[in-house]
Amino acid sequence: MPSSRPASGSRVPAPWRAEIARVLISEARIKRRIRDLALEITRDHSENELVIAALLNGTVLFLADLIRCLNLPLRLDFVGISSYGNNTRPGELIITKELRLDVEGRDLLILDDILDTGRTLQCVHQRLRKLNPARIRTCVLLEKTARREVAFQADYVGFQVPDLFVVGYGLDYAERYRNLPFVGVLHSDQQPTPTGPPQPGLAVVRKVKSP
Ligand code: XMP
Repeated sequence: MPSSRPASGSRVPAPWRAEIARVLISEARIKRRIRDLALEITRDHSENELVIAALLNGTVLFLADLIRCLNLPLRLDFVGISSYGNNTRPGELIITKELRLDVEGRDLLILDDILDTGRTLQCVHQRLRKLNPARIRTCVLLEKTARREVAFQADYVGFQVPDLFVVGYGLDYAERYRNLPFVGVLHSDQQPTPTGPPQPGLAVVRKVKSP
């Protein structure tokens, strides 16, 4: 599995240089890796109809690029989950959007931007398993093993990343940087606290205690 060694020759574009220290994974490397992931996923899901459940909001770019490379029929839905709500202790997860598609008897692929502590994917996996899909697999663009709190493994992983707060290519800090075409690292004086930035104004649909 490719690691996140710094991409040679990748420079942070001028508008972001004051905030982003360096490019960790370049646009070209992301593109190449997504093509490989898509080949694997296509090969593994040729027999049963596939439903993709993409976690909001960090998967936006990854999802758009990945599904265009998937050479099979599929249906798409979204799950909203956040651990950074108002008046919410770190670790408490909030479902902001439920899956609407019927997945019973179907192959389900849960897509997320990054597998970090593992709490988010474990929680979503446990909830969606109750909907009786034939199989559930998980795919993440990035995996950070240093802060893992629960024993959760993704089936498809784009890149391993070090224990740094990463932004770009869908990943945000306080809703910024999602539009960067690469994954980058903030300057050390801009790195968020371990619990991440507050995100005021979340519409709380249901509270879920993390395991
Ligand atoms: P875990 O696995 O810790 O991940 O439940 C939960 C969610 O936290 C976000 N996350 C990050 N977002 N840079 C980001 O922009 C990071 O380094 C990072 N680590 C975790 C992400 O939305 C993930 O789905």
